[in-house]
Amino acid sequence: MRNHRVWSNITVLAAIAGPLAAQVVESRTGLVVTASAAASDAGAAILRAGGNAIDAAVATALAMAVTYPIAGNIGGGGFMVIRLANGTATTIDYRERAPLRSTAKMYLDASGAIDRSLTAEGYLAPGVPGTVRGLALAHSQYGKLPWKQLVQPAIGLARSGFPIPKNLADELNWLVKATADKYPATVRSYGRPDRKPWSAGDTLRLPELARTLEAIANQGPDAFYSGWIADSLAADMAAHGGIMTKADLVAYRAVERAPVRGSFLGNEIIAMGPPSSGGTSILTMLNILERFDIAHRSPTAARTLHLIIEAQRRAFLDRAEYLGDADFTPVPVARLTSKAHGAELAGTIDTTRASPSVALAGGRVPVQPAHESDQTTHFSIVDGAGNAVSNTFTLEQAYGSRVVVSGAGFLLNNEMGDFNKNPGVTTTEGDIGTKPNEIAPGKRMLSSMSPTIVTRNGKLLLVTGSPGGRTIINTVNEIILNVTAFGMDVRQAVDAPRFHSQWLPDMVYFEAGTLADSTAAALKALGHNVRPGTKIGDGHSIWIDPKTGIAFGANDHRSADSKASP
Ligand code: DON
Repeated sequence: MRNHRVWSNITVLAAIAGPLAAQVVESRTGLVVTASAAASDAGAAILRAGGNAIDAAVATALAMAVTYPIAGNIGGGGFMVIRLANGTATTIDYRERAPLRSTAKMYLDASGAIDRSLTAEGYLAPGVPGTVRGLALAHSQYGKLPWKQLVQPAIGLARSGFPIPKNLADELNWLVKATADKYPATVRSYGRPDRKPWSAGDTLRLPELARTLEAIANQGPDAFYSGWIADSLAADMAAHGGIMTKADLVAYRAVERAPVRGSFLGNEIIAMGPPSSGGTSILTMLNILERFDIAHRSPTAARTLHLIIEAQRRAFLDRAEYLGDADFTPVPVARLTSKAHGAELAGTIDTTRASPSVALAGGRVPVQPAHESDQTTHFSIVDGAGNAVSNTFTLEQAYGSRVVVSGAGFLLNNEMGDFNKNPGVTTTEGDIGTKPNEIAPGKRMLSSMSPTIVTRNGKLLLVTGSPGGRTIINTVNEIILNVTAFGMDVRQAVDAPRFHSQWLPDMVYFEAGTLADSTAAALKALGHNVRPGTKIGDGHSIWIDPKTGIAFGANDHRSADSKASP
């Protein structure tokens, strides 16, 4: 039963959240919270049909490949953190991999500079997609209902079509314009059949994608990785100067990995390890902040913000130095997430002064003098039995490479841009050139995606995550802090203004209009380079009341079509 419950002590910023801000949805039987209302409903229907949270996650992700094409995908990749009702936790790594023919300097031009046009779009931008393998792996290990049943909602949406919300109409009009002269299959899939602009409420049908999904339903993931879908992808690549081949698809594996774990103020954090930097960086920040009695500070005071920004700076410096695909490069996760390391970094923080980022690196990461958006998507799911899924997946930027595979109807990612593209060159603008995340064949590019689950006394407490490139790590950390240290309810925690810094560039961005002038002045006086930014993240979250076990879903109103479906 749907039930909008109004919390009594809401202090949200209306500028961000609007009049709907007071809503949470509560349920004892399960919840699906996503950026796409139709996909939330599709996932919730699987729960009602007897599926568990993992089944619902598969159905939701595939539905989002249809209804939320800016980031939902079968041509991209992501991470899933799973915690079962029996307390065991695991993760599924379905991050894209570099094609076997890729090289460390493949995106440098003749002058040695990064040619960003090559990773922005087109046939050299994609990594080998992981989503279908990843969802199939999660399902084979932890699902309950037949695979075919889970693909069905996506097929129905693609085949019969669905009414598009205003934001999708606007985006598709932009996409069609941006790809008109370049990628005919994209225009064929996403242009209005009469070539007029889309309006809210128009029906989008995706027959080529429906056919692809039918093959995946009937033949399983092999249809994608070695069947005709793989052939279509390889042929498209060969025809347009891409380097991905069928051998890349055949070789792709999703991997089940142990989560990274840590504690914070008596809560257990279950998060994503490499090739995500997210879980490691979040634990580093929490371990630093635990040293400063953070729970007894005001979340909006300049001194509190200063400490969190300094924790961000140090975690992002570690990220640049050490994080990459641990299958290729040693990543000292245990050390970086240890209490001792948190204490050591805390000891380097001056509570009265910002540490300049370049000086903080002290030559360890040579920096030469020299931005992220929200086009990824996160969803949170719990079922009535207490299983939980936290899933973030992506095409990297909006509509990925913008290339739809001809004859197969799905968009390819542009994830190769997440590698360090210029070996050895780190700039104050935020390009990182460190070794651990250099390009190598078969390697996974470093990600910031941070699907996370928090428990307390062995009970599920919070399921959260967000899009936003490197801002993801801070968004998720701030939601965790809001719930576990600052005593906010889940609606407040999601609505609260967000801020982001990432070591380099040496700046801190606040969501526009959210920072009091006096606080901004105090932060500047402490030495912070404070800037207004756009909205940050899209953190669809679920909080579970430890006393009653009732789940409360808070969709993030920063995205227009988001919904918590019971
Ligand atoms: O994996 C990552 O960290 C990025 N590809 C996520 C991208 C994202 O959130 C969208 N915006 N840049």
